[in-house]
Amino acid sequence: MDVFPPLLSSFEFNAFENYVTNSNECVRFKLVTCIDDLIDDFEETNGSNDKNDGESKKSTSSCQISPFKPDMSYQFFGENENIFGYKDLIVKVYYSCAKLNIYLGLKYADRLTKEQTDGVEPDDVLRIISSKYETKVCFNLNEFSANLSKEISFIPYGELMEEFEIESKPIDDHQQAEKRRFCLYKANNLVPGFVAYHERMQTFLMWFIEGVSYIDIDDNRWDFFILYEKLPRTGKSLSSSKPLSDEYQYCFVGYSTVYQYYAYPQNVRPRISQFLILPPFQRIGLGSKLLAAIYKNYSEKSIVDITVEDPSDDFQRMRDIFDCKLCMQLSWYQTLAPNTVWSNEMAVEAQNKYKLNPKQTRRVFEILKLKLTNRNDPDQYRQFRLSIKQRLNAPYKKQINDIERLHQRKAINDTNYELLMKTNQIPREYRIKNLNKQYEEIESEYLQIIEKL
Ligand SMILES: CC(C)(COP(=O)(O)OP(=O)(O)OC[C@H]1O[C@@H](n2cnc3c(N)ncnc32)[C@H](O)[C@@H]1OP(=O)(O)O)[C@@H](O)C(=O)NCCC(=O)NCCS
Repeated sequence: MDVFPPLLSSFEFNAFENYVTNSNECVRFKLVTCIDDLIDDFEETNGSNDKNDGESKKSTSSCQISPFKPDMSYQFFGENENIFGYKDLIVKVYYSCAKLNIYLGLKYADRLTKEQTDGVEPDDVLRIISSKYETKVCFNLNEFSANLSKEISFIPYGELMEEFEIESKPIDDHQQAEKRRFCLYKANNLVPGFVAYHERMQTFLMWFIEGVSYIDIDDNRWDFFILYEKLPRTGKSLSSSKPLSDEYQYCFVGYSTVYQYYAYPQNVRPRISQFLILPPFQRIGLGSKLLAAIYKNYSEKSIVDITVEDPSDDFQRMRDIFDCKLCMQLSWYQTLAPNTVWSNEMAVEAQNKYKLNPKQTRRVFEILKLKLTNRNDPDQYRQFRLSIKQRLNAPYKKQINDIERLHQRKAINDTNYELLMKTNQIPREYRIKNLNKQYEEIESEYLQIIEKL
């Protein structure tokens, strides 16, 4: 939606202030494990719940997986991320937890009519979402819930790569640490039924990844890595002491797509494209586990290195921590000192052993060097700052040197040389200021990673 809906003056818009909702706040996701997770929704539709309470307290407490909100919604509701026309709006975007069948519904206290707004319609929220989804969605709660009984028979697509447990930290002294069980599957577009499943899976992306677009799944160079939690059929997570049997059901946690780019002559450069861990499962190490599994999967000789397409800041943080820990096992780390100079051999070792991309290894090298640098030692600290600024300044220096060289070789005449210098040269003062600013940003990023090592 635009700032003001068409035909509505700013005066009228202010009059309807209570009817404009921030779409990041009012969209509610639920991963529905069983019919009990919908008790509050049925009560609402039967009218026994207070319609004006905005968000029912019960609806969050009765669900096995806590409901969650999107990180962004501009791909649906425009740059302002507003929805017009409803008071106390809740947009329900529910997924059955394993099969990912989708239900879309609205709850609101009041909806504007065309008569009230001089003909401006409230946003058609469900149509806006469903038209972006490119997969079947259901608008009827009874129909959605009728299919929930099939969830327990869901078997993930593709091949099982690994199963593991994560110990959840107790929130307080009275709570016991609990082991949760997860499993990771690998699939591609040849797995029967997976293409349709992927259509449903990818609908999460636009709510959580900046600038994302859907991929062309018909291209058979895509690999998919999908993570599930194995939930007990009722109540809390599966205890590891219990034997594995059919007492659990799968719950979708997140996934990653990897494109296998061709590299000359017969090699492959896998690129991580989309990578998502849903909010209820974030910050418990699952993203790192998924990344580790991807590294392990592409470890053959024919793999050049693994790259990442447009990583988000959170992803980069996770990746830095993970890659630093890997590089701390390499031979060059054993002799790393504050005065060590970057060398190509370091990149080669990280590439051969872990398929790290040289640019990322250089970043890791700098983080690990800062870790060893005594920032209270002025000389040592100055040396570090200088090495980073030299790297940052290198492309500029090369550009100027190239122009100088062309001029010396008489490949360009004096007039063109002066023109090129004039357009490319940046005043020293401005350059230093800029380098200092860039350095500070980098140092603060690096220090966050060092805290975690
Ligand atoms: C980025 C993302 C994949 C991380 O997944 P995750 O399962 O939370 O990651 P982990 O639990 O393995 O995190 C490992 C470490 O990375 C860092 N980290 C991860 N997410 C972070 C965040 N949001 N803020 C700060 N640090 C973060 C932390 O240091 C974390 O360790 P800690 O929890 O002990 O502090 C997940 O947040 C996500 O899917 N985000 C939305 C989509 C996205 O950005 N995808 C990447 C597109 S390229």
